Amino acid sequence: MDTKIEKLTAGTEAFSQREEEVLRRAGSIIKEGGLVAFPTETVYGLGGDALNRESARRIYAAKGRPSDNPLIVHICQFEQIHAIVSELPRDARRLAEAFWPGPLTMILPKSPCVPDETTGGLDTVAIRLPSNPIARKLIAYSGGYVAAPSANLSGRPSPTAPDAVAEDLGGRIEMILDGGDVGIGLESTIVDLTVSPPQILRPGYVTQEMLRQVLEKVDTDVTILAGDTGQAPRAPGMKYRHYAPKGELVIVKGEPDKVAAYMNSQAALDSERGERTGIIGTKRWLSLYRADVVKCLGESGDVESAARNLYAVLRQMDQEQVGRIYSESFAEQGLGEAIMNRLLKAAGFRVVEVS
Ligand code: TXA
Ligand code: MG
Repeated sequence: MDTKIEKLTAGTEAFSQREEEVLRRAGSIIKEGGLVAFPTETVYGLGGDALNRESARRIYAAKGRPSDNPLIVHICQFEQIHAIVSELPRDARRLAEAFWPGPLTMILPKSPCVPDETTGGLDTVAIRLPSNPIARKLIAYSGGYVAAPSANLSGRPSPTAPDAVAEDLGGRIEMILDGGDVGIGLESTIVDLTVSPPQILRPGYVTQEMLRQVLEKVDTDVTILAGDTGQAPRAPGMKYRHYAPKGELVIVKGEPDKVAAYMNSQAALDSERGERTGIIGTKRWLSLYRADVVKCLGESGDVESAARNLYAVLRQMDQEQVGRIYSESFAEQGLGEAIMNRLLKAAGFRVVEVS
């Protein structure tokens, strides 16, 4: 299949006539059962008609994703939620008021019009109202309900730029809307409102502290930051070794100079064994590192830039054919919790503490 790539001005509400026409065409592709990748504020999504079983099947096939892993339904107006849920708790309204449009996904009881293929057979549905204007316009032209997982091949880091989408899905989908680099870089926060108290199933840009300002109580799925709980994560997608680079990743915790000494000595040993080595760090410590490839996530202490750059850096390690990667760690608070969650999953929970 020939994948058409259409460039659109990112982040503007005022689309040109040509762009408006492209978005209308993209919407028609989705209405007719086709697939269009598009930017959101978190990561690029692979969009299909959420209310069409066949579209959901095509999404799973294009990504090579297990079909028991449910999709998020994206809407563009709050009122649309009524058609796809069987119940709308007060907490959902309050969260929507506080965080929509934006990087928050809510799990709610589904109505019969959402097919099992979209929800992976669950009786709940994940719903998000994104803020990216390209996403919202596309959803409106697509009939209002767009199922969109991250637009990567299953098991690869989520795409934060259009070339990453083309690398994974070029030739497998009808169209890619190129809206440039995304702003946040990690997938949305997922909150399950079908349990009491509500539970965070995936940490993201909307942090636990932010949710606590709206909800009386909110818990976190225990599997999020631990590898050996013996429990299955409650978001089915979180059980897969996701976000993974091809090289083996190890997270190193401790005092910066000791972390650097450990990483450098391990990388030297790996090199002797003929491995290509990589180190992921932040600017302040970068000059301490010795490896074949050293990549920067941004200024030390700037978690927003680390979130934005993480997936691109993991992809660059693949492109550079690095076999062993060492990464700095982040404090598990605020946005740091989401960064550590993705890093830990990419590392298969391999963490070394140096002292
Ligand atoms: O930021 C995002 O959320 C991006 C953009 C494109 O919107 N989308 C995204 O979708 O990350 P995906 O498919 O890569 O991740 C969806 C996650 C999976 O872990 C899935 O298991 C979980 O949401 N999920 C979906 N429906 C669910 C449900 N009914 N109950 C529990 N977890 C659910
Ligand atoms: Mg994904």
